[in-house]
Amino acid sequence: MISDLWYKNAVVYCLSVESFMDSDGDGVGDFRGLTRRLDYLHGLGVTAVWLMPFQASPGRDDGYDVSDFYSVDPRYGTLGDFVEFTHAAKQRGMRVLIDLVVNHTSDQHPWFQSARSDPKSPYRDWYVWSDKKPKNADQGMVFPGVQKTTWTRDPIAKKYYFHRFYEFQPDLNTSNPHVQAEILRIMGFWIQLGVSGFRMDAVPFVIAEKGPDVSTPKEQFQMLRTFREFLQWRKGDSVILAEANVLPDDDMKYFGVDGDRMQMMFNFHVNQRLFYGLAAADARPLAKALKETQSKYDTAQWGIFLRNHDELDLGRLSPEQRQAVFDAFGPDKTMQLYDRGIRRRLAPMLDGDRRRLELAYSLMFTLPGTPVLRYGDEIAMGDDLSLPERNCARTPMQWSSEKQGGFSKADKTFLPVISGGGFGFETVNVAQQRRDPNSFLNWIERIIRMRQELPEIGWGDCVSLPTSDDAVLALRYDWRNNAVVILHNLAAEPKEVVFRVGPVDGEPGRLVDLLAQAHSEADEDDRHRIVLEGYGYRWFRVGGLNYLLDRSDI
Ligand code: GLC
Repeated sequence: MISDLWYKNAVVYCLSVESFMDSDGDGVGDFRGLTRRLDYLHGLGVTAVWLMPFQASPGRDDGYDVSDFYSVDPRYGTLGDFVEFTHAAKQRGMRVLIDLVVNHTSDQHPWFQSARSDPKSPYRDWYVWSDKKPKNADQGMVFPGVQKTTWTRDPIAKKYYFHRFYEFQPDLNTSNPHVQAEILRIMGFWIQLGVSGFRMDAVPFVIAEKGPDVSTPKEQFQMLRTFREFLQWRKGDSVILAEANVLPDDDMKYFGVDGDRMQMMFNFHVNQRLFYGLAAADARPLAKALKETQSKYDTAQWGIFLRNHDELDLGRLSPEQRQAVFDAFGPDKTMQLYDRGIRRRLAPMLDGDRRRLELAYSLMFTLPGTPVLRYGDEIAMGDDLSLPERNCARTPMQWSSEKQGGFSKADKTFLPVISGGGFGFETVNVAQQRRDPNSFLNWIERIIRMRQELPEIGWGDCVSLPTSDDAVLALRYDWRNNAVVILHNLAAEPKEVVFRVGPVDGEPGRLVDLLAQAHSEADEDDRHRIVLEGYGYRWFRVGGLNYLLDRSDI
């Protein structure tokens, strides 16, 4: 097995250029600003940055409505600025992933403009049309409550066009070989400009059959292999991180049984059970979800996340489980979205409670896969529920207690900086937390550093160990003759757990605590008895700290 797959032990940080740092005072973040902040990200321990869409766009879905795939939106800078940025990241040994939004375009994209206005346009068949309103037009909306239909009549074409998302995002006819060739061209372009791969938006919809007569769309999985092959040919170490909120039974179809499709996928299945676990102090569904998503090809990898730029999607929990999460973390209707999720940031969901924040991030950094942090999470930023839909969690980064939180010199920013209250920039900001050795920022920095020294989690085999308490998740990882054991107590009360680690080489009875002085020795029956405080977590090395002397090469 190739041992230099960079994404296996990476720390990914996602951000939108728009909200990170505004270098030219127009109130909108830009590439020059972001580039100036690369040292900050590097210092934090981030090894790969994922950028949300920054291409030219009318901006009606925060850039997920692209009108020119080969450009940088002028508000964020130029292609020159982009290349300076990827170069600066590379100098620091950091990778860059970018969003690839090719399920649809903006309705302002020249392809759609041409397609709608001329039946003979070469782009006509790049979109999905119907003369009559299809029977299933009121089904399959991704944004229920906001989006009314998936087929909208275009007065110019005098036909209906298909749109899985908002009506200004006409779906590309991805079965059309010309569209497929264009997708490869887009990937090739950005690869050439220095990126290491893509977070591919809405993958199940990209590969789905589309058309007025399609009632249950089949996925065209061979497309994934084509994308992968193309990328590997152009640049061997580039990857695709797929956004695919699918059931575990379908995982292998996306990864490929032989690991020949997507290298990475976000683990939505685990994400939802993680939040249920935090809400209900019940680790069992999470342990089950870990087992259900366990089998995958060696080179494949999960992306583990807490919150992202969208709502926390709870759509696949049972109604009772979903209600438990709503009750705990988003009881008001204003906190909920699309009948299935919560639109808040994590810190306000957890009432800014440091113990629960540490618990949540400790989980994120130690579940099997590669952690994906969201900008602002490292300082426990809040949200602004007065902003519509998902914009509440997309406000400017809070750098200092100076004007506009140090994000911009402008009097008005693209979205207001959060100000006042428990989460305002006056109190929650990077500069302030840097000065305080006990700040959340410094905790995250230390935890990332430790996580990087636990390649067992990124690479190894994971099993959950039976404990004596349902609120406690105990995971053991094995890799190259080394093992770690990680414990989390999801309950508010302290818990005493008794468990066995199982067979190991070296000193079997010892668990060395990596974060505190709470080592454990097994009793004569090989059992460990450990008391975890409420919301407590422990990262242990099995055996002694001379594990690196025991590590094998294979
Ligand atoms: C994905 C993105 C979301 C966007 C949608 C349409 O789900 O995460 O932000 O609105 O695709 O592109």
